[in-house]
Amino acid sequence: MDRIRIIGGERLQGTIQISGAKNAALPLMIASLLTRETLTLKNVPRLADVTLLSRILGNHGVDITVVGKKAGQTTIDGQTFKLKAVEIVDTTAPYEMISRMRASFWVLAPLLARCGEAKVSLPGGCVIGTRPVDLHLTTLESLGASIELEGGYVIAKAPKGLTGARIALSKVSVGATHNALMAAVLARGDTVIENAAREPEVADLASCLRKMGARIGGIGTSTLQVQGVERLHGAEHRVLPDRIETGTYAMAAAMTDGDVMLEGARADLLQEVLQTLRSTGIEIEERPSGLRVAWNGGALNPVSVETSPFPGFPTDLQAQLVALMSRANGLSKVRETVFENRFMHVQELARLGARIDLKGDTAFVTGVNGLHGGQVMATDLRASVSLIIAGLAAQGETLIGRIYHLDRGFERIEEKLGQCGARIERVSA
Ligand code: EPU
Repeated sequence: MDRIRIIGGERLQGTIQISGAKNAALPLMIASLLTRETLTLKNVPRLADVTLLSRILGNHGVDITVVGKKAGQTTIDGQTFKLKAVEIVDTTAPYEMISRMRASFWVLAPLLARCGEAKVSLPGGCVIGTRPVDLHLTTLESLGASIELEGGYVIAKAPKGLTGARIALSKVSVGATHNALMAAVLARGDTVIENAAREPEVADLASCLRKMGARIGGIGTSTLQVQGVERLHGAEHRVLPDRIETGTYAMAAAMTDGDVMLEGARADLLQEVLQTLRSTGIEIEERPSGLRVAWNGGALNPVSVETSPFPGFPTDLQAQLVALMSRANGLSKVRETVFENRFMHVQELARLGARIDLKGDTAFVTGVNGLHGGQVMATDLRASVSLIIAGLAAQGETLIGRIYHLDRGFERIEEKLGQCGARIERVSA
């Protein structure tokens, strides 16, 4: 298994191109199941999760053509995907595929909406909590589907089609909101989704569905109104920039006393994060082409942060913040409220010299004078990148194992960091 080797202590300086958002690209690709016509997606990141989802969609009958780097092009822009599902050839999503990536479970709603039936394995994904799917299932039931659980599979049926309804989500859930949207757009009549997730990736899906002919109101708010239509058509849509990748590289820059331009980053997607980072002293400049992040050394101010659904501080940046606060001047408090078991990075960061006390859902991070290199293991996607951030600042060599997690969500990370002066490489075991 490959590992990442970092020799820490180099300042990050230069430009990093922000990729398309993984968590927008995945539901957008899934939306191609809703129409016979071509859905063209631009700025799709090159990630293992995208490749896996392409295979899953291929299984259902989606034909995918990928246009990558063109001749003569020097920078790597995102890929353009053309997805076309003239016919759904299989409404079953098998365990072998779905168990490897949670988002693939979201094929349930479009398959059901278009074909009147779907059999989808219960999902897998990062080990960050129990991650139930009850909200997804009650949502589909509200729209008139019958749901049975059998042998680890969800069997959903709506032979006469789905019917619009009022859906009040008992908890804010990104996935359940995606699911409700993709089911409601083809349902008969009106649907109102209350307590909907307001994450930019949900708004991105809703905007794309609208281009495909869906009637959706309230985009970006917690109440979405959907007027069902008989069919959707093809469209072209550009995946929005990855706010989690942006926040991660901003913290990596600060961690190394760096000065980095995050090209293509959008400040409006991470206001709460920028406010938190600014409160530590980090300099962040909003420019038309992106964000410039700089820190001229010294200890950062500690913070007290709680993760929460958008527009709050994202859980997907919690591990990176914990790593960053190990160089703050004093005690920081980072409370995780979205997932109950998302602190696997704490013991690994401790191997590099971080001082973190975990009490229930809160990490108390005491700043230290410096981190040192060591051997650590990635446990989930965002935890792995927090180890990279720590390794970049640590004295000496850090070796990170199980990096397949990273490839799920960070495009060409060694290359992007390497171009800014980091000494980072992938080594075969
Ligand atoms: N939840 C339920 N029941 C459900 C669904 C969710 O109780 O039926 C709970 C979850 O257990 C969790 C909370 O609701 O406590 C929020 O989960 P949510 O459904 O919003 O998460 P998700 O849709 O499974 C997406 C992202 C995650 C991100 C979360 C929260 C994708 C592919 N995944 O997951 O991203 O952490 O929203 O913002 O969009 C990552 O990229 O590393 C990642 C884990």
